[in-house]
Order: sequence, then C-alpha cells, then structure tokens
Amino acid sequence: MTNFKLGILASNHGSNLQAIIDACDSGIIQAEVSIVISNNSKSMALKRSNKKNIPSFHISNHTHPDPHLQDIAINKTLKDHNVNLVILAGYMKKLGPLVLKHYKRKIINIHPSLLPKYGGKGMYGMLVHREVIKSKEKITGISIHIVEEEYDSGPIIDQIKIPIDKNENAESLSKKISQIEHDFYVKTIGEIITGQIDLNSYYN
Ligand code: GRF
Repeated sequence: MTNFKLGILASNHGSNLQAIIDACDSGIIQAEVSIVISNNSKSMALKRSNKKNIPSFHISNHTHPDPHLQDIAINKTLKDHNVNLVILAGYMKKLGPLVLKHYKRKIINIHPSLLPKYGGKGMYGMLVHREVIKSKEKITGISIHIVEEEYDSGPIIDQIKIPIDKNENAESLSKKISQIEHDFYVKTIGEIITGQIDLNSYYN
C-alpha cells in the first residue's frame, strides 16, 4: 500500500471522482483517496465517496459563510488527512489563498476544452460544449492543468485533441468527452504519483 494520499474536490456528478476511486482500488493508481470535499451536500460525488467509506466533507457557503473561514476549513481538512495531491474533479468554486499557498503546485484540474480556449469564469459543463459547437470548431479536447488563482489558469500538463463530428451537438460532445476524460485523468494522476510528471518542472 502506497502512502500517497489524494484529496478530491467535486461539486456535482462525480464521474471523474469515481474513476479515480476505482483506479486506486484496482491499483492502476498507486494511491489512496484519503478525503473528498464537496460544496454541494446533495452531490452524487458525496454519495459515491460515502459509499466507499472515504472521509467526506460538505464545506460550502452554507457551512462557512465567511470565505476566509471556509478557506481555513478546506485547508485544515486537507492537511489533517495528509493529502499530497489535491485534485479538482468538477469543483465549481475557486480555492482560497490559504489552500493555494499550502498546496502550491500540488493542485490539478481537468477542463473539457483545449485551454486557453473556452476556459475561465462561467465556462463550465454544457456551456463549454455549446460555445465550441456555436463557434463551429472542428477540434476540441480536454486539458489537465496545475491550478492557480484564476479559473482554468496555470500551466497545462497535458491535452487530448478530440475531433468534432459533422452532426455533433453539445450533448453528444459532452458524452464523448466525459468518456475520454476518465482514463486521461487517471493516467495523468498516475504519472504524477510515479514522478513521470514533475509539477515543479512547469515553473522552471
Ligand atoms: C468534467 O467535464 C470536468 O472536465 C469538468 O467538470 C466535469 C465534471 O464531471 N471540470 P464529473 O462531475 O466528474 O462527472
């Protein structure tokens, strides 16, 4: 059993979270999901982590209306569970300065477009795919990047290009991307854990 501990933040469906949990269970990823945090008490993400008896926490504007105290709570929860790598998997909120400082270069995110295109504030979920289709793109993709202060900013670790079919619509594109995302995220996380990807190297 490895000592590498993952902390995952997810807001809604949690299909990426599930893929990561499964990959840890099967040994594809040599790590343990030591904690899941969601800002949405009713999220599928929390249902999935509770089902696996993973320590799971609801931390949100409801539990912590003061953003600073919320930042402290998330940071403390991650630290208390000895998290080595923070993974955003459909987490719809910005992280606070404390978490960003303590986990500098140790937080990653997945985004369903070829960043910097179709990223940033307000670009999430179906909104991304609708914009891609509206703009008549021929290719879209998935990006995994290190998390910095602004939405979808920070060095890009890896991208996959995905062709857009002639009759593609936002819904079909979303399904197609979602299926590819899981393996892509798992593979990249695995490479970070084994040291094949060095997050510090993106800052040299
Ligand atoms: C994914 O498309 C991911 O790229 C984006 O949010 C979505 C999360 O999906 N950041 P799920 O909650 O993991 O199913």
